[in-house]
Amino acid sequence: MTQDTTIADTTEAAQSRNPADHLWMHFTRMSSYATNPVPTIERGEGAYIWDTNGKKYLDALSGLFVVQVGHGREELAQAAAEQARKLAFFPIWSYAHPKAIELAERLAHEAPGDLNKVFFSTGGAESVETAWKVAKQYFKLIGKPSKTKVISRAIAYHGTTHGALSITGVPGFKHPFEPLIPGSYRVPNTNFYRAPEAYADDEKRFGLWAANRVEEAILFEGPDSEAAVFVEPVQNAGGCLPAPPGYFERVREICDTYDVLLVSDEVICAYGRLGTMFGSAKYGYQPDIITSAKGLTSGYSPLGAAIISDRVFEPFGKGSTVFQHGYTFGGHPVSCAVGLANLDIFEREDLLGNVLRNENAFRQTLEKLYDLPIVGNIRGDGYFYGIELVKDKNTKATFDAAESERILRGYVSGALFENGLYCRADDRGDPVVQVAPPLICGQAEFDEMEQVLRYVLSEAWRRV
Ligand SMILES: Cc1ncc(COP(=O)(O)O)c(C=O)c1O
Repeated sequence: MTQDTTIADTTEAAQSRNPADHLWMHFTRMSSYATNPVPTIERGEGAYIWDTNGKKYLDALSGLFVVQVGHGREELAQAAAEQARKLAFFPIWSYAHPKAIELAERLAHEAPGDLNKVFFSTGGAESVETAWKVAKQYFKLIGKPSKTKVISRAIAYHGTTHGALSITGVPGFKHPFEPLIPGSYRVPNTNFYRAPEAYADDEKRFGLWAANRVEEAILFEGPDSEAAVFVEPVQNAGGCLPAPPGYFERVREICDTYDVLLVSDEVICAYGRLGTMFGSAKYGYQPDIITSAKGLTSGYSPLGAAIISDRVFEPFGKGSTVFQHGYTFGGHPVSCAVGLANLDIFEREDLLGNVLRNENAFRQTLEKLYDLPIVGNIRGDGYFYGIELVKDKNTKATFDAAESERILRGYVSGALFENGLYCRADDRGDPVVQVAPPLICGQAEFDEMEQVLRYVLSEAWRRV
């Protein structure tokens, strides 16, 4: 605390304070806020948010792929308050509380196949950590102790804790923290727009090629050393990469052949983002573990869940075996109460149906942007889309680092926001703009997105 800070903060003092003086924002170039104002959001209602100056924005990213049911839901605030009054906290370390029991039962019921055991955490990375640790101990318990390694896909993001970061495939996020946990390997992702030339005109063949790289990696590292393959139903980083038909089927087959667990990381793709409760269900593959978080509570309270199959749980349920793993706030009573109330809204308002009924209209509305010279590719599924920006549509030439800095960071990102659209300009892979609106949205919001994107991307092209 600085010496001149008084306890009673006046409104004037609050307004003149630089938010970056003490708040270290995540994934943020802090130096840029030494002179620029920090966008500060204070209120939300439905699909819209307002900043501290009263300006309104369309929340076309659901916060961070989180706020499925939209902002300002009194009923979720009530559920949290009621639970906090009744039992604000109790751990699920050898004890239980009714909301954790009820939510676990509900998730087990919704999850595909024999995914019946729910291990709660407080977020996505913790669910990913949980999945890797479950996989390692599972193989020790069944007499295959050398199976510890994991395979994931290039550019895929799986979180920032050391284990999850080791699985993450974004080199720039990893380098500052090396050495990370050994035993994690990348295979190609399913970016068909950037497919190797030999597969560029046949999506199915490309999918088979990409899936077979998983087998190649398992054989290269040795099947006796491989514990799990992590895939997202639609890969977020890189700009919403769906998998070609047949891809997941082949990956599942490979996992079965070499006794490797298939982990479906659905931190974004579960809870309606693709119009189904779980993303794997939309594409018809059966994971051994699903990792989830974000939309489970629509963000009204933090919660994550790894959902594990009966087969994988089986050796953990015997004798003196303990999974020595947990989080104080995992399965927090308030979060579980909110999760249940959130899923009630899903059901009552048929939000999955809303996404399925509107997903084609969403795609078609975004595809109008193909008439812009800067728009190279529009891809995704459900309410989860990426728009890849290119320098030349014919050659698919992408922007170099300096151009990306000038156009994407220096213009597109800020201009979208200034024009009332909160979404994401991302260059972890090739430059993309991502949109993932709350599941309550329809044509009016799609049109609003298209109009702002059209204006800003046309302006961006003038600056290329
Ligand atoms: C697929 C995936 N896995 C894991 C994570 C990490 O989640 P969290 O930020 O809640 O730790 C994310 C976050 O966006 C994600 O998209």
